[in-house]
Amino acid sequence: MSDCFSRSAPHLGFTQDGVDFYDQTRSWPPNITMMWRESIVARLGNAANILDLGVGTGRLAIELRREAPNVVGLDFSFPMLSRFSRKQREIKDKVPLIQGDATMLPFHESSFDCVLTTHLWPFVAEWHRGLSEVCRVLRRSGLLIDTEGGPTFEGLRGELHDAWQRALVRRGVVARYPGPQSRHAFEKALRELCARKVGHISIATWSESKQVKELLSTVAGHYQFCFCVPLSEVKAIQKEIETRAMNHFQLDETVLDPQSLKLSIWRFGANRESVIDRCVRWFRE
Ligand SMILES: C[S@@+](CC[C@H](N)C(=O)[O-])C[C@H]1O[C@@H](n2cnc3c(N)ncnc32)[C@H](O)[C@@H]1O
Repeated sequence: MSDCFSRSAPHLGFTQDGVDFYDQTRSWPPNITMMWRESIVARLGNAANILDLGVGTGRLAIELRREAPNVVGLDFSFPMLSRFSRKQREIKDKVPLIQGDATMLPFHESSFDCVLTTHLWPFVAEWHRGLSEVCRVLRRSGLLIDTEGGPTFEGLRGELHDAWQRALVRRGVVARYPGPQSRHAFEKALRELCARKVGHISIATWSESKQVKELLSTVAGHYQFCFCVPLSEVKAIQKEIETRAMNHFQLDETVLDPQSLKLSIWRFGANRESVIDRCVRWFRE
C-alpha cells in the first residue's frame, strides 16, 4: 500500500497529522454508535455483504463488524488504513481492509448488498463517477446508506465557522470541499442516476459538552486538515478568532455542541443495466 491519497489529492489532509486530528475529534458517544449500528443491521440483516467506502480509521466499521460479519473497508489513505489496522491488532475477527479509490472500485459488478458512506462524498472530486461505481458494485435492490452525522453547527461552533469563512475570504484563501457543494447537488445526482430515496431516518440528536478552547482548536483543525489551509494562515486566523471569542467567553468555559445523526437510504432503479449505461454515457460527456 502507498500513500496515494495524499499524493494524488495534495489539497486534502488525511495524512499522518490529519489521522490524529480525525481520531481525536470525530467519535460519537458509544450509545449513539450502537444505535447507528442497530439501525443498519435492522435494515440489512446480519448476513449482508457491506462495503464501508471511505472507511477511515474504522470507528464505525469496527462497531458494525460485531453484528455484521461481512463488512469490508476501503479507503484511499494509507495513514487512515494503518491506524485502522493498528486498532484491529488485538481483535480476532478483523474487518478486511483494501486501499483503493471510490471512483474506481476494485470489485466485480453486483458484489455488495449495501455500500455505506459516512463523511466521504465532500472529499471526492469525481464524486459523480464514485456514485456510478456504487451503482455498479451493488446487487439488484442493494442499498447505498449515507450517514449524515455530527455537529449541527448551531451554537458556538456555527459562529466559529462563520468567523473562519469571513477571515478566509478576507485573506483570499480558498477553502472548499472538492465534492458536492450541497446536499441538494448530491441528491440531484443520485436521482439522475435513477436512484430513489427509500428512507431518511433520524437516529438521534444529542448535545456534547465542550470547553470553548476545545471547540476553537477543533474548528481550526478542520480548516487545517480537511481543507489544507496553510499552517501560517491557520495560526493567524485562530489567534484572531480566539481573541474575539475571549471577549464573550472564558476559554475553559463549557458550552453545548449540538449533534445529530441521520441515515439517508437510496436504492438504484430496478433497471440497473440501463442505469449503468447512462452512467457510462454521462461520464464520457
Ligand atoms: C472524513 S473521513 C471519514 C472516515 C469514516 N467514514 C468515518 O466516518 O469515520 C473521509 C475518508 O474518505 C477517504 N477518501 C476520500 N476520498 C476517497 C476516495 N476517492 N476513495 C476512497 N476513500 C476516499 C479519506 O481518505 C478519509 O479516510
